[in-house]
Amino acid sequence: MAGKVIRTIGVLTSGGDAPGMNAAIRAVVRTGLGKGLKVRGIRKGYQGLLNEEIIDLSARDVSDTIQRGGTILQTARCEEMRTEDGQQKAAAICKKYGIDGLVVIGGDGSFAGAQRLANLGVNTVGIPGTIDLDIDCTEYTIGFDTAVNTAMEAIDKVRDTSTSHERCSIIEVMGRDAGYLALWCGIANGAERILLPEEHDYDEKIIIEDIQENRRRGKKNYIIINAEGIGDSINMAKRIEEATGMETRATIIGHMQRGGSPTCKDRVYASIMGAMAVDLLLEGKSNRVVGYRHGQYVDFDIDEALGMKKVIPPYQYDIAKLLAL
Ligand code: F6P
Repeated sequence: MAGKVIRTIGVLTSGGDAPGMNAAIRAVVRTGLGKGLKVRGIRKGYQGLLNEEIIDLSARDVSDTIQRGGTILQTARCEEMRTEDGQQKAAAICKKYGIDGLVVIGGDGSFAGAQRLANLGVNTVGIPGTIDLDIDCTEYTIGFDTAVNTAMEAIDKVRDTSTSHERCSIIEVMGRDAGYLALWCGIANGAERILLPEEHDYDEKIIIEDIQENRRRGKKNYIIINAEGIGDSINMAKRIEEATGMETRATIIGHMQRGGSPTCKDRVYASIMGAMAVDLLLEGKSNRVVGYRHGQYVDFDIDEALGMKKVIPPYQYDIAKLLAL
């Protein structure tokens, strides 16, 4: 519905939270207010929209939030929004509250909801917010930078104790379907092995032989970064210890990766994307998603963005393996 005059915008965060979401919310609120709009915050994602958990937001409401992890609006995963009834109800609630433009901060699943709402007459713009970096139309997603640094620091610490005890350590990082956190940590932490959900057919026998070979060469530890999508780290540790005789421990970093104060990059990129989303709505655009590509902030049609499939760049994975030699 290009050309529609926007007077009131809503903002929600949906799916898994990510550090930097507050910076994006703050930017949406302050850009909106600064440009004469009324801004409404929707709590707990689409579920909160369906439950009408809608509040007015002032510039003061987002003070002191840019440095905080999580999302001040809270978030949820919402099954009802996948149904046509849920989508129609959500659009009707937006109309009831005068929300003619909606900013949705989240991942692909959240953008699918935004796409349906756009088809039902609510102008929508998505902002990529996920620690998984698994949205193809953008090289940056809010939260990845903070999460990968949190994981990297944790893995450095595990390596210290692993070396002291001459152990093998399996460290599980988040990423159910996407191995970016694992790949980046693998490179940044100099891991001997990286297991990605995109490469399910890895061979444990080869890892065992490699550990044995490393021990023969006098290497003091062996770090395996295992993505959540492969999982099974505790059993894997038992199997490896039994087969190699090298003491092996599993560490699952878990949700610690989703929390914490956002890095400078997450605060700045999220702020710019938040402001841009409001500007797109003011230009009368809808069904768009903001991204960052080739050094530029860009926007895409949501249909096009959802049609893209992100893959792990094979060259980067090859380099990670080569550097682990
Ligand atoms: O937000 C992305 C993510 O952290 C994935 O890496 C992970 O697989 C999933 O969310 C975990 O979700 P939940 O917190 O709902 O268990």
